[in-house]
Amino acid sequence: MEVQQFYYDNKIVKKFVYATILWGVVGTLVGLLLAFMFIFPNLTDGISWLSFGRLRPLHTNAVIFAFVGNATFAGIYYSSQRLLKARMFSDALSNINFWGWQLIIVGAALTLPFGFTTSKEYAELEWPFDIAIAAIWVVFGWNLIGTILKRRQRHLYVALWFYLATFITVAVLHIFNSLELPVSALKSYSVYAGVQDALVQWWYGHNAVAFFLTTPFLGLMYYFVPKAANRPVYSYRLSIVHFWSLIFIYIWAGPHHLLYTALPEWAQNLGVAFSVMLIMPSWGGMINGLLTLRGAWDKVRTDPVLKFMVVAITGYGMATFEGPMLSLKNVNAIGHFTDWIIGHVHVGALAWNG
Ligand code: HEM
Repeated sequence: MEVQQFYYDNKIVKKFVYATILWGVVGTLVGLLLAFMFIFPNLTDGISWLSFGRLRPLHTNAVIFAFVGNATFAGIYYSSQRLLKARMFSDALSNINFWGWQLIIVGAALTLPFGFTTSKEYAELEWPFDIAIAAIWVVFGWNLIGTILKRRQRHLYVALWFYLATFITVAVLHIFNSLELPVSALKSYSVYAGVQDALVQWWYGHNAVAFFLTTPFLGLMYYFVPKAANRPVYSYRLSIVHFWSLIFIYIWAGPHHLLYTALPEWAQNLGVAFSVMLIMPSWGGMINGLLTLRGAWDKVRTDPVLKFMVVAITGYGMATFEGPMLSLKNVNAIGHFTDWIIGHVHVGALAWNG
């Protein structure tokens, strides 16, 4: 039998972890400043680049794309190499992925406070950044798929399906939502108008939740929970069923962000129906994660990985119960425009992703 020796690239994982910590601190500090503005509304009066409207997108972008984004890359680069029994396809692509992503974040931190924005929620960055994001995302996918192709492990473990779904769907969402006509170096207009623009925007926005904040973390759950508990996944069949139903149903749920708007009523109702159905695949994932711990709950007392995972999965369960409820028109009429929505987001972003 031929013995092959190879080394995992742990340096790239460390870089992404350090970036996660750095941007996590920056993103939450901006959030703290925003929170102070609720108590002292005149705190930054007269300084346009420190006004609430400019800093809110800085906070959301920093937390979602810089903090969670770097954590996602760290987790995927760490676990994929081990699941595929191979070093990443190319160290150069890994580094382009890392430095390119950080440059985009720095660009965001410089342009958003100065008012350069498309004004599309979670897609505020202007057109040069949109192109850069697409390019770096392709580099990431190229590296991931290249590693899959040169793997030493034939079976593609469930975590990898989630990573592949993340790569493909985020690319499609980002490209179609960002179709725009540039009119100057940092100004563009969306090719969509009116209610179509809103629908495309929330098809993107909701699926950013699904494919940027959810599928990569489900993949990480499927890697780290069985590994730390030293037990197989509770149900392989459930992982297949909830994977396919999750990605099929999520993509239709966007209109729950546009209830009581000019969007035709049938489209709103379709979005509500799919959002309510979403509880099943979401909870399928949660149940599969928690039941993997059957017989190993004592380890949760001592193992920090399992402690964090249990909090994360529980937070995921709460956010994905609340979400379908908030999608019901009568509940949304109460929750929309209130801090409940912000609370919902933070259960997801802090408990699940954090
Ligand atoms: C079954 C799953 C889910 C459903 C059906 C769902 C549904 C909803 C609904 C109805 C809203 C409020 C829209 C509004 O009235 O403005 C919302 C907002 C939001 N949710 Fe969820 N949610 C789910 C899971 C999650 C998870 C797991 C996260 C985070 C990881 C998350 C993050 C967000 C974000 C970022 C917003 C937008 C807040 C804003 O506009 O300021 N959701 N979701």
